Amino acid sequence: MKLGIFGFGVVGQGLYHVLQQSNSIQAEIEKFCIKDITKPRSLDKALFTDDKNELLHNDKIDVIVELIDDAEAAFEIVKEAMNRGKHVVSANKKMIAEHLEELLELQRKNKVSLLYEGSCCASIPIIRNLEEYYDNDLMTSLEGIFNGSTNFILTKMINESASYENVLKEAQDLGFAESDPTLDVEGIDARYKLCILLYHAFGLITNPDELFTLGITKINTFDIEFAQKNNYEIKLIARGKKVGDFIDATVLPTFVHQSSILAQTKNEYNAVILESAFSESQFLYGKGAGDKPTGSAVLSDISALGYGYRYEYKKASRTNNFALHEDFEMKVYVRFKDQHPNESDFIEVVEKYSGPDGNYWIGYVSRQKMKDAKWLEIPDLNVIALG
Ligand SMILES: NC(=O)c1ccc[n+]([C@@H]2O[C@H](COP(=O)([O-])OP(=O)(O)OC[C@H]3O[C@@H](n4cnc5c(N)ncnc54)[C@H](OP(=O)(O)O)[C@@H]3O)[C@@H](O)[C@H]2O)c1
Repeated sequence: MKLGIFGFGVVGQGLYHVLQQSNSIQAEIEKFCIKDITKPRSLDKALFTDDKNELLHNDKIDVIVELIDDAEAAFEIVKEAMNRGKHVVSANKKMIAEHLEELLELQRKNKVSLLYEGSCCASIPIIRNLEEYYDNDLMTSLEGIFNGSTNFILTKMINESASYENVLKEAQDLGFAESDPTLDVEGIDARYKLCILLYHAFGLITNPDELFTLGITKINTFDIEFAQKNNYEIKLIARGKKVGDFIDATVLPTFVHQSSILAQTKNEYNAVILESAFSESQFLYGKGAGDKPTGSAVLSDISALGYGYRYEYKKASRTNNFALHEDFEMKVYVRFKDQHPNESDFIEVVEKYSGPDGNYWIGYVSRQKMKDAKWLEIPDLNVIALG
């Protein structure tokens, strides 16, 4: 295989590194395309260009590897590569989640393969497992920690009392955070991954904006003390669950008991728990961010192209058209200062606490009410899901 690689940042360099150390793959790098040709690089200048057509129009290149941090530019690159009959490997969850239907059509029309294992939970081989291992078993739910940076931040805030700002900076310096970290901390990155996995698990295509999502930016020391007193960790949990003919899917900061398997998933590690009818509960665990872990997932896709692998998306053709549903009841902790949430939005409030440092209510609320609630926007009000 001759590879044309877009991007030489965290993941591009990680891929270069793992390719150099893996002697089983018959793949050669023809060229890298990057954005800024004047930046100093660790490799020979002749290997770089800023002209995308040098890769896309090069007939010697049969595989385009897309590892850039601009989803719109990435979609144009991937579209043109596939229309030119090239196979593509990408780690760009935003691009894939936002253009899934068009990408499916481009694969069908051009009879090429698009593989993107690195886009979901980096080193965890979740997509190929959903495609192959869970091919015949009836999936009932998938849930887990899908974002390495937020898990790193929450681990350090809860276990080491680190400040949010300092630990976000550390996650960025270590290459775990997205170029735009709001995608991580607002839960949007995890939502893109959930969107992709819902298609491979249940055949459900959904617009990422439809998935109810809350981030971790409003978590404060009051919430952390509540977690510590009650033997909880706080984790950003993405979840998709089959309920009748519907899928209940959310990304929410969640109190998980310290004894639970997800609470043991710390720092930049990710985890996925899969439930299915016959194999029952299974747990996948691995590094969810970083240069070499993500590079290794990309390498595994390149290797799979070597034996003609493509996703067959079997669930989509087999399932009975699941739809997303919002009318589910959820148990939440709502912490606030002066302005409280609207009590009539709750099905039931089961606990109320009031103290000098803050107040909280614990209660049951319908998801739809929650989605529409204006009080969610109160700056010093925070919501965390409870088990
Ligand atoms: N970092 C992780 O842990 C991780 C994990 C899983 C998935 N991902 C995904 O992998 C992708 C890359 O992430 P990253 O962390 O490696 O980003 P990054 O370190 O910011 O690097 C981005 C690279 O893309 C290049 N680039 C940007 N726009 C371009 C364009 N229009 N044409 C050509 N090159 C362009 C940049 O060029 P210059 O070098 O000239 O600036 C840079 O080399 C993203 O989609 C991200 O979501 C990242």
